[in-house]
Amino acid sequence: MGKEKFGIDPTILEQYANEVKSVVDLGVEVAIVIGGGNIFRGVQGVQKGLADRAHADYMGMLATVINAMALQGALERIGLSTRLQSAIKMEQICEPFIRRKAIRHLEKGRVVIFGAGTGNPYFTTDSAASLRAVEIEADVILKGTRVDGVYTADPEKDATATKFDNISFAEVYSKGLNIMDLTAITLCKENNLPILVFDMNKPGNLLRLMKGESVGTLVSQ
Ligand code: GTP
Repeated sequence: MGKEKFGIDPTILEQYANEVKSVVDLGVEVAIVIGGGNIFRGVQGVQKGLADRAHADYMGMLATVINAMALQGALERIGLSTRLQSAIKMEQICEPFIRRKAIRHLEKGRVVIFGAGTGNPYFTTDSAASLRAVEIEADVILKGTRVDGVYTADPEKDATATKFDNISFAEVYSKGLNIMDLTAITLCKENNLPILVFDMNKPGNLLRLMKGESVGTLVSQ
């Protein structure tokens, strides 16, 4: 959303695309799961008068496809090869999600974007990211947010909050830390998939963390 009130800010879109390119250029295989909250939030949709959460969640899934297409366009504009796969079939605009094809695309250096979440209501974008990451046997999930890691409390609300450099899954549960929803966290924990939480809005951050610099918070066993 960037500075816009809704929708897609082209400046941010271009910035994100350049961030992705910087790590693809290193030879890193990159798959992306993107949310749709700038267009439609499923849970809030219910509060806004829709009959049920499932209906609202499906609308949210479609919103992620709009963002995925925007990102795909921005990545291709700067010369990257991409493939968009959707969990909900819409064959006129993208491939359906096929795990083996996604892995093959990655091996060929294509950026794979997964749209439409898991294709199921009641699952968040974070759960979709965890599921896809496990399926493609990713080494790590990089969770890009507005804050630069995991804090003892919400740093936007509590000035005394301090940042963790490393934290275990067990501590995430015991301290009730709000990194991703518990379904997503549990999937990562059970499959021994580390999560790195970092500030996606700070230019150069993605490249820095990929080069092994201390960026964000690493959540692992
Ligand atoms: P390789 O098999 O490695 O050559 O991969 P590829 O993705 O280039 O081959 P494929 O023939 O599957 O796809 C060619 C183009 O068509 C790519 O841009 C795909 O994203 C696109 N494509 C493939 N399947 C679908 C689909 O079901 N719907 C849409 N809209 N595009 C598709």
